[in-house]
Amino acid sequence: MILDTFSLSGKVGIVTGGGQGLGKAFALAFAEAGADVAIAELNPATGAETVREIEALGRKALLVETDVSSHASCQAMAKTVHEAFGRIDFIMNNAGICQHKPALEVSEAEWRKVIDVNLNGVFFCSQAVAPYMKAQGGGAIVNIASMSGLIVNRPQMQTSYNASKAAVIHLTKSLAVEWAPYHVRVNAIAPGYMNTEMAAPFFADPKFGGEWFEFTPMHRPGEPRELCGSAILLISEAGSFITGETISVDGGFTLY
Ligand SMILES: NC(=O)c1ccc[n+]([C@@H]2O[C@H](COP(=O)([O-])OP(=O)(O)OC[C@H]3O[C@@H](n4cnc5c(N)ncnc54)[C@H](O)[C@@H]3O)[C@@H](O)[C@H]2O)c1
Repeated sequence: MILDTFSLSGKVGIVTGGGQGLGKAFALAFAEAGADVAIAELNPATGAETVREIEALGRKALLVETDVSSHASCQAMAKTVHEAFGRIDFIMNNAGICQHKPALEVSEAEWRKVIDVNLNGVFFCSQAVAPYMKAQGGGAIVNIASMSGLIVNRPQMQTSYNASKAAVIHLTKSLAVEWAPYHVRVNAIAPGYMNTEMAAPFFADPKFGGEWFEFTPMHRPGEPRELCGSAILLISEAGSFITGETISVDGGFTLY
């Protein structure tokens, strides 16, 4: 039956940055869809809470304290997950950071930090899990890009973030081509303004939230849960012929 193709039953996955926000919503949705889920998170306290909530849903879960900007940390994380669960079927590369600052004021360290987490982190984690996927005959990688990788946001200035997310979209296409022979599909989601710890503090400010939602055709932020359907599509058998794609889930923001 068609709905069965969306099931993640029997699959093992990883969510980076799964301690809060979008990552937590993804992790819980994947568990509801039947997967066992490892949380690769910099913050062990929030990561442990997500693990508890996954276990309460009746699935297996594991916290792996991880810094996605470290190649060694990503390699160790993938090894730990594979040792614990025996396979890695999918990874949701979700961990990310944002900085609002005019480009002329951004320091070298600030620039490198955003690129290290948002771009290098996606590459390091993908490179760490792909050998296991290749060895087991396939897998799915989903990268959280942003509409900021497709357009330039206003009024905030966030060049490093925009550039990192645009690079994630092209990294997605490049890896999709390279790893298609291994039956590893690589896709991305480009969310609009979402109601999470990262973005919500700006919503009430007319300078930011006011303008953001005026220019969102649906005139509201998205809820984290509203990204989970497209994520499950990209990971599951239902998305078996989709690769290299970036799905915009932004209430129409990028249509203007
Ligand atoms: N919230 C939005 O409006 C929005 C819109 C588009 C894209 N995104 C993207 O979605 C993703 C999640 O955003 P969010 O709003 O949930 O953010 P958030 O700040 O609420 O959560 C990010 C999580 O990532 C973790 N993290 C940060 N650096 C890490 C590192 N080096 N290693 C491992 N974990 C790390 C944090 O501890 C946190 O748990 C990010 O990639 C973000 O750029 C968010």
